[in-house]
Amino acid sequence: MRIVLGITGGIAAYKAPELVRLLKKAGHEVRCAATEHALEFVTRVTLETVSGAPLYSDLFASGRTEHISLKDWGEMLVVAPATANIIGKVAGGIADDALSTLLLAFSGKPVIMAPAMNCEMWAHPAVQRNVATLKSWGIRMVGPEEGELACGVSGVGRMAEPEAIAAAVCTATCSRRLQGQRWLVTAGPTYERIDSVRFIGNYSSGKMGFALAEALAKEGAEVELVSGPTALKIDHPQVKVTRVESAREMYAAATEVFPRCNGAILSAAVADYRPAECADHKLKKNGSEGMHLELVQNPDILATLGSMKQEGQTLVGFALETDNEEANAQRKLEKKNLDYIVLNSLRDKGAGFGVDTNKVTIIGRDGSHNESPLMSKQEVAGLIINTVTS
Ligand code: C5P
Repeated sequence: MRIVLGITGGIAAYKAPELVRLLKKAGHEVRCAATEHALEFVTRVTLETVSGAPLYSDLFASGRTEHISLKDWGEMLVVAPATANIIGKVAGGIADDALSTLLLAFSGKPVIMAPAMNCEMWAHPAVQRNVATLKSWGIRMVGPEEGELACGVSGVGRMAEPEAIAAAVCTATCSRRLQGQRWLVTAGPTYERIDSVRFIGNYSSGKMGFALAEALAKEGAEVELVSGPTALKIDHPQVKVTRVESAREMYAAATEVFPRCNGAILSAAVADYRPAECADHKLKKNGSEGMHLELVQNPDILATLGSMKQEGQTLVGFALETDNEEANAQRKLEKKNLDYIVLNSLRDKGAGFGVDTNKVTIIGRDGSHNESPLMSKQEVAGLIINTVTS
């Protein structure tokens, strides 16, 4: 989507370049329009560099009618930060500079504002009335949030974080094909404790699972993301993250939510075994050359969901195979009562654990084969979602 980002003169303007980056990362084209005051906080060069397009800030620059061409170009206008001033101007129909003129010309298309100001200004009846007016015209507000403000006090007035604004843009722009559906996604590794400081784990980063959760949410689904230990974060209003550590905790969380879901995609790298006992202190060297660790089997979450599956539910598993890939994946699909299995081969360079790219073959119960080229995990996630929900 072609998005115009309007920036007004609040301290939070320093976060605008990050918002441009996030919007571009989500696949949007971005052009910036800034007020004169905004340029006290963030420079023209920064905005032109991150957006890759000239900045619109001067209504009278060489006889241009940029507010008209930008209005025609843009499919959505996001104002972040939006000061009390711009909110008041739009509510009052005032167009006295580049951005306010563009805002009035931008009628009939979606507008999102992220207000940011001192908490007393935000609470002022004039601002509240103006915000209510803009909302009644269909302008969406994201935030403001409660927190520390630039003036040193704490209160409601902080601009929503760029991630939250980008998520609101996504909610407003994405297709709603999966609206009303709920999906479970498992992601990341599991840690199986040996003692109070050690565990058995694996190299899974969780990137594939997080990309799947995001792709489902983009299509309008509510997502229950059950993740093993990972540093990844997701900030989407439709994704509920439950963080777990061990396979047994993941099992408990996944089996609890699955009956309420339309489908589940299990991308987590779950440990097949765990230590039979977990010491509540740090195990010490005992003087002998070796050490035996007794392992016991973990529950298979995917197979359990396969046995719980009801008519109309879709179950998708992952398989990471090193030999006889297709035959093993096919066997797993049948044994665990899956509808699809996504085969990752460790032989493919750039695919698998930790990296940002992946290459998969999606095998369906109906015998369908869908092989992807090497793509970003976001693109692979989109392909998987399209295949298993169509
Ligand atoms: O049988 P295998 O471990 O190769 O199967 C991999 C698939 O099964 C993945 O989708 C993984 O998330 C899931 N799995 C599971 N619980 C386990 C082991 C694997 O859900 N204990």
